[in-house]
Amino acid sequence: MSFILSPSILNSDFVNLEHEIKMLNSSDADWIHLDVMDGIFVPNITIGQPIVEAIYAVATKPLDVHLMIINPYRFIEDFAKSGAYNLTVHYEACNHLQRTIEQIKSNGMKAGIAINPHTPVNDLEEIIADVDLVLNMTVNPGFGGQKFIDASYDKIKRLKELILRKKSKALIEVDGGIDLSHLKKLMEAGVDAIVAGTSIFKSKSPVETIKKFKEIS
Ligand code: DX5
Ligand code: ZN
Repeated sequence: MSFILSPSILNSDFVNLEHEIKMLNSSDADWIHLDVMDGIFVPNITIGQPIVEAIYAVATKPLDVHLMIINPYRFIEDFAKSGAYNLTVHYEACNHLQRTIEQIKSNGMKAGIAINPHTPVNDLEEIIADVDLVLNMTVNPGFGGQKFIDASYDKIKRLKELILRKKSKALIEVDGGIDLSHLKKLMEAGVDAIVAGTSIFKSKSPVETIKKFKEIS
């Protein structure tokens, strides 16, 4: 079994962002996870399209863009132009989710839906067949460095069942509080892609830690 590793730069060195992206280019990472927050949907503000575009100019890996913003349909074209490969929106932040998903796809990106820890898997029943990816939050979104929620393992299993039952091709991605100790159980539960921020960027050697992640797969 193998999984896609998507390091989150949220806790990287923003002053030396070019260096951080080049480090990821040279590593075994598969995607680069970018957290866009609006200070309304989540209690934090991070980066927007200009930064995503600047990263795109340097990155040699697909950009896995996680939007934590209200009514993200307003910015879909912008993020397509900025170089997003995956564009993931929150279920809880969209009034017209199906339309938003179609807009993401028609702008040439992979469409993802993120769900908060309190959102039941069954809420995705009518949309799961249309999406390329489900991002299951394993912390409440807003900040890096939080504690992984253990109830996530069972939830991921239920998500996998739903995907199979609905004959969806969606990948399962997980995000929040993940370190090497979680990998085995996450893979057993059916995860395809893993986001990790603090456990990579606050380690002594991020390149080596990324290598260790990928060795377990
Ligand atoms: C949290 C973000 C995550 C975060 C992950 O809202 O969506 O992507 O950066 O960082 P860690 O791995 O530190 O929880
Ligand atoms: Zn994220």
